[in-house]
Amino acid sequence: MALTDTHADGAASPTVRRLRAELASLSQLPRTQARTLSAGFYTSPDYLKLERDRLFRDAWICVGHVGAIPNVGDYFTTEFIDELLLVVRDTASTVKVLANVCRHRGSPVMQGAGSTARLTCAYHGWTYALDGRLVAAPLMKDSANFDKQDCALKQFTSEVWQGYIFVDLDGRALPLAPQLSPIEPFIRNYHPAEQHFLYQAEEVWNTNWKCLVENFMEGYHLSPLHAKTLHSITPTVLCEKLPNGPAFTGYRANFHADCPERGPFHPDLTGQERRSDVFYCIYPSFVVGFCPHFTLYMCIRPFSADRVGVRWGVTGVPDNPQAAEVMAYVRFCKAFCDEDRAQLERLQIGLHSPSHRPGPLAPDDYEGTVWDLVQYMARRLGEANERDPGSCAGEVQ
Ligand code: FES
Ligand SMILES: [Fe+2]
Repeated sequence: MALTDTHADGAASPTVRRLRAELASLSQLPRTQARTLSAGFYTSPDYLKLERDRLFRDAWICVGHVGAIPNVGDYFTTEFIDELLLVVRDTASTVKVLANVCRHRGSPVMQGAGSTARLTCAYHGWTYALDGRLVAAPLMKDSANFDKQDCALKQFTSEVWQGYIFVDLDGRALPLAPQLSPIEPFIRNYHPAEQHFLYQAEEVWNTNWKCLVENFMEGYHLSPLHAKTLHSITPTVLCEKLPNGPAFTGYRANFHADCPERGPFHPDLTGQERRSDVFYCIYPSFVVGFCPHFTLYMCIRPFSADRVGVRWGVTGVPDNPQAAEVMAYVRFCKAFCDEDRAQLERLQIGLHSPSHRPGPLAPDDYEGTVWDLVQYMARRLGEANERDPGSCAGEVQ
């Protein structure tokens, strides 16, 4: 099965047409027939191009946590699919997501991360305010077709939800918070927006972005893969599916009876919340796990069909990133994430095998979230939903 054919228009490739037809048929299957996607969804460059053009541009994408830019003037740069982004705290209470592309001749304006009063492009010195307005352009006042007002950095639609910064590249998605309101009862006692930003790291894993989302979101692998790390805390058999919605899916991993208390935690946590972790995927590519004492999140962005960028971090009740319990939790995260990463990189090799065939999914409590993700993909990209890319205003993500 050749899955490496690339077409300028990914939607036109035979591989993509076949995969979209498969999605449409999967959307008709009852839960009792739930199965995995076929390998091409995870290995085809053409299918990834379809996702880049028709899924990621028109969805809420998390780029990071507000704790990374706590003070006015703090910024970080990132990229998502083809866009260069500049995420900046422009006032004490707001952040902006700007195109990190100078309005003069297109150079990236800022690099890396830092703190600044003005955003100055190093090439010819054009200078922008923190909200993207052009405030200075050396020697340009005599240029006949120059109007400062027309040269602001492009601003993307963005929203902060529970401390996480989301961007909608095409600006056509419905507001995010109302779509996530069904989640609120399950997470409000953690008070996520009040948690302190404690750790963040950037990694590149050799896996498809969906493999990582699925892995974060299913409890089926907790006992076998994480026998030495997570099994004694959250064994597979105690996992339970949580209600899903058009914009999200989730599950709860209950603690083993022998697992000691995991604190410090917010006093509002119920008994059940003190004895479980709650995991959510905000479609398509943000995953977050609320534990009693800390929150672990991953902002996932596809680099290629086989490679994914992972910006992962930890927030929590303690405010000192150097505190012993914080460093111990980050070490623990690294330990089980290393197990996941090694497994997912092996999985990606398996997905390239000509012998790969889709397999049945485990019951809802263990892999129901994976089926939810399949159904989300089917809603967005199944052939029955073929549409003009410009006609998706109002689509629920
Ligand atoms: S490209 Fe930025 S000032 Fe010229
Ligand atoms: Fe895992």
